[in-house]
Amino acid sequence: MTNLAVKGLNKRFGGLHVLKGVSFEIDGPELIGLIGPNGAGKTTLTNILDGAIKPNSGTVYLNKQRIDQLPPYEVARAGLGRTFQVTRSFRRMTVLENLFVPALALNRGHSREEIAQKALEVLEFLTIDHLRNEYAQALSGGQQKLLELGRLLMLDPEIVILDEPFAGVHPRLMEVIYRYIERVNGAGKAIILISHQMDSIFTLCRRLLVLNYGDLIADGIPDDVKRDPAVIEAYLGADEEESNGEQGGRAQS
Ligand SMILES: Nc1ncnc2c1ncn2[C@@H]1O[C@H](COP(=O)(O)OP(=O)(O)OP(=O)(O)O)[C@@H](O)[C@H]1O
Ligand SMILES: [Mg+2]
Repeated sequence: MTNLAVKGLNKRFGGLHVLKGVSFEIDGPELIGLIGPNGAGKTTLTNILDGAIKPNSGTVYLNKQRIDQLPPYEVARAGLGRTFQVTRSFRRMTVLENLFVPALALNRGHSREEIAQKALEVLEFLTIDHLRNEYAQALSGGQQKLLELGRLLMLDPEIVILDEPFAGVHPRLMEVIYRYIERVNGAGKAIILISHQMDSIFTLCRRLLVLNYGDLIADGIPDDVKRDPAVIEAYLGADEEESNGEQGGRAQS
């Protein structure tokens, strides 16, 4: 069963203390929301977890393997995948090629035919199979977000971090992202979902982590987190329950 253990992470950018001793643990196929105001440190935490940047102190273990000093490709091999808030496809490759590259790079012993077949299944699931021979740069913002999910479906990590998957996405494509989350979580994988869209967070997540300018101020079930005075003060705003949570009080994406 997947275990992610994050202990005492600190990250500074010059004089800016962006993560202040962040600790939490994930056990098994949890579906966790990571929320907090703009600049809270959510993407920075994601960048540390996937190996893109190193913390100043603290540790991250994935299934007892220390991963906080590994480069991203080794973190991917260890079983952690993420999407990017600002999507990062290979813009001058086709959609299909974008799915082949990571699968071939990870080299799990599948043949090219197996990878090609999987890629077609993934594109069909994401409803973008008709775009398979288009250059990635020709895709809309929402389609690019789906392509990132496609990359993850090819790699099939044990734990996935989705950094603002819904931002700027057409409602029809949002349905596909919901289906992705159901499929992956239903297959026993853990998901950390970062979003400012509180309706999605409260619909999907059974546990919430709240970051507020580097401090993890809450970690619990949504009903408790919603009522936590520190969370209301920092992010959700007092009218959260009446408004049914379209957005956090100070949140913008
Ligand atoms: N490479 C960097 N160099 C300097 N400062 C940075 C760097 N990356 C992030 N920051 C700063 O760290 C803080 C946290 O940023 P981060 O992007 O992690 O926030 P976030 O919670 O993801 O915000 P948002 O909800 O807007 O996506 C911000 O003040 C940001 O300006
Ligand atoms: Mg961010």
